[in-house]
Amino acid sequence: MLLLTGATGLVGRSLLRRLAAAGEPVRCLVRDPRRLGSDRVRVQIALGDLADPPSFRNAMRGVRTVVHLAAAIRDQPAGSIEELNGIATWRMVQAAERAGVEHFVFMSSLGAFSHDRTRHLRAKALAERAVLASDVRHTVFAPSLVYAPGDMFLTLLERMALLLPVMPVSGRGQAVFQPIWAEDVADAIAAAIGAEAQPAAEPRAGGVADERRPSERGERYELAGPQTLTHREIVDLVVRAGGRTRRLVSVPTPLVSRGLRLVETIMQSRAPATWDEAELLEVSMIAPRGTADAEALGVTPRTMAAVLGA
Ligand SMILES: NC(=O)c1ccc[n+]([C@@H]2O[C@H](COP(=O)([O-])OP(=O)(O)OC[C@H]3O[C@@H](n4cnc5c(N)ncnc54)[C@H](OP(=O)(O)O)[C@@H]3O)[C@@H](O)[C@H]2O)c1
Repeated sequence: MLLLTGATGLVGRSLLRRLAAAGEPVRCLVRDPRRLGSDRVRVQIALGDLADPPSFRNAMRGVRTVVHLAAAIRDQPAGSIEELNGIATWRMVQAAERAGVEHFVFMSSLGAFSHDRTRHLRAKALAERAVLASDVRHTVFAPSLVYAPGDMFLTLLERMALLLPVMPVSGRGQAVFQPIWAEDVADAIAAAIGAEAQPAAEPRAGGVADERRPSERGERYELAGPQTLTHREIVDLVVRAGGRTRRLVSVPTPLVSRGLRLVETIMQSRAPATWDEAELLEVSMIAPRGTADAEALGVTPRTMAAVLGA
């Protein structure tokens, strides 16, 4: 039995399709099973919440592999970014150790350092440390920006391009990314799980800060697409892929920060974007080895331009 968290998310949905096609028995830890759509009849459901660590114990019963994708980039009523990413992952690793799980797969993020300026990436660094220090065999993935046509970020950009005469970009928009398609990320995870019966691969540690050096019990793969694009270039590409042209206008970061904090105070969880989310686009997410780690798993990531048909 494989326990999947985040099955209703961008990567989780793609991975679940692959697991179902391979006939893998899957249990999904979800807050709301309806969000699984038609997949909910094909899987076991464990009701749970990252904000409710006791719910992990039941979910882990009889589980050999955990794929922990669930994460939050904004605060939720039940928990903060730090609790939902950092503390929840630490508690999930503990639950996995107690339940005798054999393989813990965790989705971290490129740029996750304990001194990062963003709350999300600092919490991910804490989470990653807990996974790397665990006694369970582990595989950590650290992707750059993950996207898919129709996802929330691209949809927000497309809506803005539809409604506005110019495209506002937070700050100078010079942070760089190697966007990777969610389907390519799912292929990489599926390959790592499929390799379960094989001897553990050589730990891939090059370019990794000491705090995240994998042990002999683990592997760490950085997942990047083949194009290196600034935030501005990504916005431009998405707008052009939608058949539009818009001038990009930089909005000073303090203005964006104050504006989005105000929107969040007024609209709470219904806010279309938060400062914590926008700030993530001001931090570069670059893999020094480029696409090499994905290729080591047999995946050749596609360019964002090709996926979006730009
Ligand atoms: N997208 C990126 O650019 C990117 C970049 C680097 C790393 N990553 C990492 O990759 C992983 C997958 O990302 P993604 O883009 O697929 O995420 P996503 O689309 O934002 O989905 C998040 C998932 O987490 C679940 N979740 C959120 N809060 C939860 C809670 N309190 N309890 C239980 N489940 C909860 C969501 O379930 P609901 O349906 O209930 O909301 C959803 O299934 C994450 O760990 C993310 O940090 C993503």
